[in-house]
Amino acid sequence: MHAAETLIRSMDPVMSIAAAGSVPQPETFRLYRNVPQLLRDPMGEVERIGRAAAGQVARLHFGVAHVYLATHPDHVQHILMDNAANFLRDGTYWRPLRRLFGQGIMSEGTDWKLSRKALQPVLTRRYVHSMADQMTAAINESLDGLAESARTGRPVVAMTELSRIVSHTVISVFFGGKITPADAARLTPAFETVVKAIAFRYLLPFLPFWIPVPGDRALRRAVRLFDEVLYPLIREQRWRNDDVRDFFSVLCRAHEADGGQVSDRWVRDNLFAMFATSTETTIGALTWLWPLLNDHPEVARKLQEEVDTVVGAGPVRTEHVPGLTYTRQVVQELLRLYPAGWVFPRRAVQSTRLGGVTIQAGESVAISPFLTHRLESFWERPGEFDPDRFDPDLGREPGHHRYAYVPFGDGPHKCIGLHVFNLEAELIIASILSRFRPTSCTSVSRIPRVGATLRPKESVKLILKVA
Ligand code: HEM
Repeated sequence: MHAAETLIRSMDPVMSIAAAGSVPQPETFRLYRNVPQLLRDPMGEVERIGRAAAGQVARLHFGVAHVYLATHPDHVQHILMDNAANFLRDGTYWRPLRRLFGQGIMSEGTDWKLSRKALQPVLTRRYVHSMADQMTAAINESLDGLAESARTGRPVVAMTELSRIVSHTVISVFFGGKITPADAARLTPAFETVVKAIAFRYLLPFLPFWIPVPGDRALRRAVRLFDEVLYPLIREQRWRNDDVRDFFSVLCRAHEADGGQVSDRWVRDNLFAMFATSTETTIGALTWLWPLLNDHPEVARKLQEEVDTVVGAGPVRTEHVPGLTYTRQVVQELLRLYPAGWVFPRRAVQSTRLGGVTIQAGESVAISPFLTHRLESFWERPGEFDPDRFDPDLGREPGHHRYAYVPFGDGPHKCIGLHVFNLEAELIIASILSRFRPTSCTSVSRIPRVGATLRPKESVKLILKVA
């Protein structure tokens, strides 16, 4: 390719190809030719493809189906924001999730709109921050369970403990005390099962549901258990009809656009979706923190210093949150490297052009924050963990483009739980560091395990010392 064209392409891929007057073919990656390597190291392959595509629209061919990959920030903006009406959350790649999440906030159209409208008021920054003390109380109750391991020096598995902390916090915030501890304890392992069991379907979305895959039976059992807990609670709450503003009560009180009552099934679908999106993402992201801190002692020291200064011996309170600025940067950088929603697809309603490539009506395009956050043309040393990138005092625009950093997506489907995540992550990190001095005692490769979200391949073990 001409040097000048290469330069224009890298600057403005949406415009430049059309201006050149040619109809370029996207680079095609024939994944079906490389199945053993793909199975051995799927995320390594994803990274390799991202580097080779270098921001251009690419075509990923699976043999029976294909999907376009869009990583350039201009393309991300085009799909998620500027032309969102032409790129719906629909198609083959959403099938397994749609079946699981049903017709609530994870769908499209009328049911999605109704869900978003019902949930939005309890997910604003201001409302979420009003729950900070309630969240900290739940976090500290869970941290009490770690005191014995900290005293004896027995290692703990980070993911197990974070799963306990996050689930307890989410259940407390979502249900506002309307669920018994026994029922709450049944939900957490059921969800662990769902997350593991869905992985196969997520990776092979074109497979018909009548073909059984590993995990199907466990998935059905877990979903049944979830329903056994939730439906009686929903019926009881609708009968009680109080005006409390926890997520659960708000959903139970929602009305259809015509004023009619929403169905129990709609409430259940939304609770299921909210529980799934809020736990798995947060647990995955926070698990990465500890090996990263181990490899970057200067970041660990700065973070600990901030918590010591702002929070002291704890517990963390609402008024500490504004002072946790470095903690916030660490969380932002954590999500740059390991954005939990690492890939999500859209289906084109009408034929359109993207980066000079024709996308036919009905074809799917995948957005991958994981790859966009690693584009060398937008990020210096993209593989390095450096929270200073997000230092507001340095006045740099991280990634030099608003859409170079999209861990929560954007447009109509932008993550509705981002304030919950941001606050919860800061509170969990600050609470742990105010009570313990954790060190990671396992070495962890930086390439994640593939799944619906990103988790380390190896089990992360921590030794906690009492602070
Ligand atoms: C590490 C934390 C999180 C990350 C990286 C993340 C990422 C994302 C992304 C990328 C999307 C957009 C999906 C799309 O456009 O198709 C999304 C949507 C969503 N997220 Fe999150 N999320 C996180 C935490 C949470 C939490 C804590 C909650 C709930 C409290 C939540 C609830 C949702 C919901 C319900 C949607 C769908 C919104 C809609 O379609 O209107 N997420 N999230």
